[in-house]
Amino acid sequence: IKTIGVLTSGGDAPGMNAAIRAVVRTAIHNGINVKGIMRGYAGLLQEEIVDMESTSVSEIIHRGGTILYTARCQEFTTAEGQKKGAEICNKYGIDGVVVIGGDGSFQGAGKLSALGINTIGIPGTIDLDIACTDYTIGFDTAVNTAMDAIDKVRDTSTSHERCSIIEVMGRNAGYIALWCGFANGAEDVLLPERYDGNEQALIDRIIENRKRGKKHHIIINAEGIGHSVSMAKRIEAATGIETRATILGYMQRGGAPTCKDRVYASIMGAKAVELLLAGKSNRLVAYKNGEFVDFDIQEALAMKKDISEDQFRICKLLVR
Ligand code: F6P
Repeated sequence: IKTIGVLTSGGDAPGMNAAIRAVVRTAIHNGINVKGIMRGYAGLLQEEIVDMESTSVSEIIHRGGTILYTARCQEFTTAEGQKKGAEICNKYGIDGVVVIGGDGSFQGAGKLSALGINTIGIPGTIDLDIACTDYTIGFDTAVNTAMDAIDKVRDTSTSHERCSIIEVMGRNAGYIALWCGFANGAEDVLLPERYDGNEQALIDRIIENRKRGKKHHIIINAEGIGHSVSMAKRIEAATGIETRATILGYMQRGGAPTCKDRVYASIMGAKAVELLLAGKSNRLVAYKNGEFVDFDIQEALAMKKDISEDQFRICKLLVR
């Protein structure tokens, strides 16, 4: 391996810059050239490829977002797009690629690998929804951002004795919602993996809590359930308690990465390059059972994970 490329793909996540920095510096340390591929697979297909030096990644470890920009690319899901991508890698002398992103990005990484470009994936998403790993870059920062925001909503919710529905991101996964449920002591946590749509039960709990003297009722609603605004209207109509919806949205994707996101992303970036140096391809770097490991991409994509029933039970029992 003489030259590797690095790209970020899909939704950005705080800590991606730390991973890029680690990829670039580990490669240079080992005498390998690095090219930054801008805007994910879309930039690859447009040949937006730049040389990277050690100084290209100075002053970024503490910054959210991704200096390489990111995109979701339809064309790269086609066989033609993938073939073109591999040809462009060959044209630029790129014999290894590190892809930082989520499951969709890894599908593409697997295809590049099958076309002869050694490819390694690093899990980067605030959603924590990648089955083979207990850690994904950005989740820790996002969940801390959401927790802080929910604390603030709680202050005003209590002052006004309101019910508040706070919607957090996560696509179809409820990890951010569950963690905030614990960390914010929310009265209700609605997870796409578990919610049965029984709004009447929710309404009954709100009325019951108010009778017991509770000043607020915080409902954390996951994006995968959504409809927070209409839910608030229905709850207000049924309970007579003022109810407001707050959708936290993209603020959860930005901001300075936490210490954990900087450290884990750095280790994963370095590991990805070390796998390429060892001649590996079609692997995903993961953190499992307390260790940094790697998995075959297709095997990793076939894995399933679910919210822990036990953790959800404990989260609920702690709220009184
Ligand atoms: O995957 C990260 C994420 O922020 C999800 O939580 C959310 O569903 C999605 O991306 C939003 O995507 P977009 O940036 O395309 O609006």
